[in-house]
Amino acid sequence: MSLQSSHAGGTGKLTDAAEWRLRAAWLAAELNRHNHSYYVLDNPSIPDAEYDKLFRELQALEQEHPELNTPDSPTQRVGAAPLPQFEQVTHSIPMLSLGNGFEDNDIVEFDRRVRDGLDTQVDSEIEYAAELKFDGLAINLRYEDGVLVQAATRGDGTTGENVTSNIRTVRAIPLRLHTDNPPKVLDVRGEVLMFKEDFAKLNARQREAEMKEFANPRNAAAGSLRQLDSRITAQRTLRFFAYGIGTLEGAAMPASHSALLDWYSELGLPVCKERSVVKGAAGLLDFFRGIGSKRPQLPYEIDGVVYKVNRLLQQQTLGFVSRAPRFALAHKFPAEEATTQVLGIEVQIGRTGAVTPVARLAPVFVGGVTVTNATLHNEDEVRRKDIQIGDTVIVRRAGDVIPEVVSFVADLRPADAQAFVMPTACPVCGSAIVKLEDEAIARCSGGWVKCAAQRKGGLQHFASRRAMDIEGLGDQLIEQMVDRNIITTAADLYKLGLSKLAELDRMADKSAQNVMSALEKSKSTTLGRFIYALGIRHVGEATAKELATHFGGIDGVMQASEEQLLEVADIGPVVARSLLAFFSDPLNRELVEQLRAAGIHWPENLPAESASKFLSGKTFVLTGSLPTLTRDAAAAMIEAAGGKVTGSVSKKTSYVVAGAEAGSKLTKAEELNIAILDEAAFRTLLESKQGNEQGNEHDPD
Ligand code: IVH
Repeated sequence: MSLQSSHAGGTGKLTDAAEWRLRAAWLAAELNRHNHSYYVLDNPSIPDAEYDKLFRELQALEQEHPELNTPDSPTQRVGAAPLPQFEQVTHSIPMLSLGNGFEDNDIVEFDRRVRDGLDTQVDSEIEYAAELKFDGLAINLRYEDGVLVQAATRGDGTTGENVTSNIRTVRAIPLRLHTDNPPKVLDVRGEVLMFKEDFAKLNARQREAEMKEFANPRNAAAGSLRQLDSRITAQRTLRFFAYGIGTLEGAAMPASHSALLDWYSELGLPVCKERSVVKGAAGLLDFFRGIGSKRPQLPYEIDGVVYKVNRLLQQQTLGFVSRAPRFALAHKFPAEEATTQVLGIEVQIGRTGAVTPVARLAPVFVGGVTVTNATLHNEDEVRRKDIQIGDTVIVRRAGDVIPEVVSFVADLRPADAQAFVMPTACPVCGSAIVKLEDEAIARCSGGWVKCAAQRKGGLQHFASRRAMDIEGLGDQLIEQMVDRNIITTAADLYKLGLSKLAELDRMADKSAQNVMSALEKSKSTTLGRFIYALGIRHVGEATAKELATHFGGIDGVMQASEEQLLEVADIGPVVARSLLAFFSDPLNRELVEQLRAAGIHWPENLPAESASKFLSGKTFVLTGSLPTLTRDAAAAMIEAAGGKVTGSVSKKTSYVVAGAEAGSKLTKAEELNIAILDEAAFRTLLESKQGNEQGNEHDPD
C-alpha cells in the first residue's frame, strides 16, 4: 500500500516508528514540491485546500513526534514568537548598489566605458545579461551545506538585520537547496517583493480591519519583512527573485551571470524568467523597450532594468568604483510623478459615511494613465501637506495604487490660492458632517437612509465578491439603480424583475438574465458572508466569520447583549457597541427580515463550544497613548481573547503595547527584551491569532 493513500485521514493509526517517519518525510517532500511548483515555477500543482490538509497532517505528526521537526520542514513557515529586536549581521562581502542611467545616451556611454575598461576591439560587442530591476528589498540568504541558516537585509551594505524567522515564512524561498551536492557556503542575493495581487489583498484586509493601508507593494514588503513577529509576516505573501551572489565555498563559481542564474534555478531558487543575454548597446536598448511595453502586465512592480556584463572574468577585470560595480548599470524608467494644478478639492462619501477629500486636477499623464483626481486621504493630511486650491502639485502614481498628491510647489503658489475647508454638510444628502473626538475621520451623519452615497457604497459592498458575491452587479449598475430610485435597500435587489433590469443603460437582455441568475445564486450563502455583507462598522470578514461560528445563527447575533458579544474571540467593546447600535435600529432588523424572506439562507450551525482564548497565559502591559484605541478598549480586547493586563513590566510580561509618550515602562521592557508592539502590531497580533491556533501551539512555553 502506498503511503500516499494509506493515512490521508489522520495520524492516529501510525504506530510503527518507521512508518510515521516515512510518512512525515513524504509529506514534507510533497509540500516542498507544491511550494516550488507554485512559487518558483509559477505552475500550481494542487488546490489550496489539499495543500492545507497535507500541511496539517504533517504538523500533527511533528507535534506527536517532536524529533521529526527539522529546521527545513515546511511547517517551519508559520512564524515564530516575536523578537525583541533584530540582531545585526555583518555581510561577509558588502552588498553594493548600482549606478543609474536614464537616457539612451547614458546606456551608450556605459557600454563604451565597459569596452574601454576591457580594452576590446572597436567593433567587437560585449555580451550582457539583462534582467529586471525589482522594486523590493535586497536580501542575502546564507545556505550552509544546502540548508538556509540565515537571512539578512542589505542595511547600509556592510551591516544588515537578521530577518531569518521572517524569511522562513516566504514559501518561494527553499529552506533546503535541491541538490545532493550542495556548496559548503552559498550567499544568494536577490530581492524580496510583494506581487501586486497580494498587495491588493493585504490592503483590503487592512482596510477592513480599519488599519493603515500600505502606500505601495514595496512599503508593504518592507513592513512585512521588518516585523518582529514573524507570525505576521507568515500571513503576508512575499516573493523572492535571486540575482546575485556573495560568498561561495565548496563549489566552482559559474563562468557567467546567466550561468549563475541557471544554476540557481536548478537549486530550486526562484529566478525571474524575464531575462536575456544580449549584445552591445543596441541589444540593451532593445531589451529596455521590450520590458517597458510589458511592464503594466507584469504581476509585480519594477523600476527599471539592470544590465550586467555577462562573463565573470570580464566582471573581475572591470571591478568597482566606490560602492558600485563598473560592470553593471540600472536603467531606470522615468519617475512616475508629474506636476499639475489643483482645480478644486471635493469630498467623497464612503459606505460608512467617511469623508475623503479628493483633489480635482488638470488632466496629467502619469504612470501610463491620465489622472484627473487624486486622494488627499483626510483633513489632517490636507493640512499637513498644506495643499490649496490653485496650487501646482506633484502627483505620484505607483503601479496600481490610487494616485496621490505628494506636495505643492511653493514658488508657484498663486496669490489667490484657497485653503480647503471641510464642509459642514454632506454634499450628497445635506446631513451634518461630524467628527468624533477619538477618530481621525469625519463622517456624514445621514446614514444610508438619507445619504445616496452611503446607500451606493453599502449596496456595492453587499454585492461584492467577498460578501454576497453577486456577479455582474457592478458598481456602476448599482449607482444607476440608486440614482433612478429603483432600489433603496439590499432587499430591493431581490425584488427586481428582469424587465426593470433590462431597462437600464448598457444592459443587454443577456446580461440582465445573468444578473438575475447571480442574484438567485447568491441566496444560498454562509452566515459569515451574510453578516459581513450587512456592512456593519468594524465588522470585517474575519469578525463576521467569528460571529457566525460563535452564535451559529443570525438571531443569536441580533439578540446578543454586550457581554455576550465580548465573549466572541477578537470582539472588543468598539465592535460590540457597533453591533448593538446596528441591530437596535429597527430599519436594520427589518432589512435582515426582508432578506431572509427573500430566500437568503445558510446552513445553521450549533453554537461553538466557546470562543477561542488564544491569549490565555499571556500578560500585557499598556503604556503611552495609542493612536486610535483607548486604554480600556485595548484592555478589553486582550481580556476578550483570554489575556491579562497588568500595571508593571516584569520578566513575566509577554508583550508591552506602547503608544506615544510611553515612559519608564517602555525602557524597562527594552531592558528585559520584552516584545514591544505599537497599535498596528497589536491589532495584527489579535487578528492573526484568530482562527489560526495551530500556528501558536509551537510556543515552547
Ligand atoms: S544587483 C553589485 N540586480 O537595486 C550589484 N540589484 O541599486 C548589486 N535591485 O540594492 C545589485 N533588482 O535592491 C541587482 N536585478 C537586480 C536588481 C537589483 C533590484 C536593487 C537591489 C539593490 C539596488 C541597487
